[in-house]
Amino acid sequence: MPGAKIRVLVAEEVRYFLGHVDVPADVEIEWLSASAPIPEGDYKGILPLLSRRIDDAVLDRLPQLAVVANYAVGYDNIDLEATRGRGVAVSNTPDVLTEATADLTWSLILAVSRRIVEAERLARQGEWAWGPTLLLGTQLSGRTLGLLGAGRIGQAVGWRAIPFGMEVAYWDRVAQPDFEREIGARRVASLAEIVALADVLSIHLQLSDETTRLIGRDELAAMKESAILINTARGGIVDEDALCEALDSGKLGGAGLDVYDGEPRIRECLKRLSNVVLLPHIGSATEDTRRRMFELAWGNLMLGVRGEPLLTPVG
Ligand code: GLV
Ligand code: GLV
Repeated sequence: MPGAKIRVLVAEEVRYFLGHVDVPADVEIEWLSASAPIPEGDYKGILPLLSRRIDDAVLDRLPQLAVVANYAVGYDNIDLEATRGRGVAVSNTPDVLTEATADLTWSLILAVSRRIVEAERLARQGEWAWGPTLLLGTQLSGRTLGLLGAGRIGQAVGWRAIPFGMEVAYWDRVAQPDFEREIGARRVASLAEIVALADVLSIHLQLSDETTRLIGRDELAAMKESAILINTARGGIVDEDALCEALDSGKLGGAGLDVYDGEPRIRECLKRLSNVVLLPHIGSATEDTRRRMFELAWGNLMLGVRGEPLLTPVG
């Protein structure tokens, strides 16, 4: 049809950043709120949030779809078999959120190890006096940071450990010789090894069939009693019921979580524990990063609707 517009569905929540990109004259945006179902239609592209599941049921409603430009680095919300089967291209937003997510990971490491949230509450309540044993925490220097996954984010978290005087060990399918050389990181051969050796264990893996509940009862039991578990990746990688039990029974020192299995719901047992710091999935939430994520996702969307190669394809 001459003059027909290229229609795209874009998550309403990213409209805030729209002023940073060019919208070509032949492209028409339909804003999609997070709670709304996907409308049926001849849309060529979709830019969803990570909370939006993209599967066969959704793709059935979008027969013209050429591209899913996910507004996230993780893409476990997308059924890649389904998109592949239909020739739909998929992209994520790597790199632009690495530093922000590594900073947030360190915010959790420091908050848990020094009991910042408990301390802040006490200070506000006003009933306190300086004391030699008031709110004793865990010293980081000389201890070992264990990284589960040494991709971009894992490595950025590892770099930040050096000024804190920590040793860095990592477990990853892929060896990272540059990372090892640059900061003296040590690759360990097995999950069992990293779990047992880490004083702080931080997760930087994608959620997939292989990583679902990777940190289960046995892994938690094998951790040091003083150890801290940090998860800024995906909640489903940890068995959270087992985590609650381990924390509650003193088999683990503490935990810092930004992501949850079944989020935004957070297990009551986690909320009751004082040795846990809970954040509402804000790993990449800086003004700069969220804007750059939009620019990248939008760039992918505009290429995808015209059948051109994406900037950051996945799958
Ligand atoms: C956030 O969790 C992301 O995957 O970008
Ligand atoms: C993504 O999670 C990455 O670390 O590359």
